[in-house]
Amino acid sequence: MPEFDVTVPHISRVYDYWLGGKNNFAADRELGEQTMQAYPNIVYSVRANRAFLVRAVRFLTAEMGIRQFLDIGAGLPSANNVHEVAQHEAPDSRVVYADNDPIVLSHARALLRSTPQGGLAYLDADVRDPDAILASAAETLDFSEPVAITLLTVLQFVPGDEAGAIVARLMAACVPGSFLAISHPASDIDVEHHSAMVRRMNESMAQLVTLRDLASVTGLFAGLELVEPGVVKPSLWRPDSDIEAATPTVLWAGVARKPSLTASPPP
Ligand SMILES: C[S@@+](CC[C@H](N)C(=O)[O-])C[C@H]1O[C@@H](n2cnc3c(N)ncnc32)[C@H](O)[C@@H]1O
Repeated sequence: MPEFDVTVPHISRVYDYWLGGKNNFAADRELGEQTMQAYPNIVYSVRANRAFLVRAVRFLTAEMGIRQFLDIGAGLPSANNVHEVAQHEAPDSRVVYADNDPIVLSHARALLRSTPQGGLAYLDADVRDPDAILASAAETLDFSEPVAITLLTVLQFVPGDEAGAIVARLMAACVPGSFLAISHPASDIDVEHHSAMVRRMNESMAQLVTLRDLASVTGLFAGLELVEPGVVKPSLWRPDSDIEAATPTVLWAGVARKPSLTASPPP
């Protein structure tokens, strides 16, 4: 079992607490409570994020024919993990989970099971090292076929322009017809209360959060074709019901396709 300091709150476990999970320690619960008091809508927001995961993966599998997923910043196993949604639609789907929290990986290895027809792998990897992730993921995924890369509420841990460079590197390794899904905490929704909550998190967590606005999150999809309705609050990304659409959320989210190479114009 890897060593970790349970006295310092960690985002994977605070997030688990917000979702009502049991994989958290006293320090995570304390910060979870403080942040929920500072910004009660965080609980709805993280649920809207998980619901977006379900709709996006279902869309990619059932409607776009994707059978390979690379989920970076996967988080602790929860309800409706990527492989469960994908393999429900297409049992032969293969999914690679990557996270840099050793607890996430040990729980994932213990709890998550693939269908016999599909495949599942777990990488102890940092999103800031996309080349290492791509090299290890290639042991399970075939990068000569389309892949969907999901970066759901993880790029806020990468400040500045590095986030865009990471996305560009990951998508450069994928063939046209591949997809990218991102959700990201917003700097321009519920500004006062959300910023106060994030300040509180940044005072006690080792992983510092950088918020981004709609234009910056849209910029992460540079060179890709956004699927309708574009970058929106996750609750408004193809909601299944009016209730889902009305869920308060403080995130931006979108899905985009890597276009085919444009043919050169005739001489
Ligand atoms: C807020 S949780 C999101 C979980 C899941 N993707 C979701 O949206 O429901 C963020 C996850 O990203 C992981 N993470 C944070 N920084 C990371 C990094 N630099 N590289 C890889 N994973 C990271 C954390 O350990 C945590 O499990």
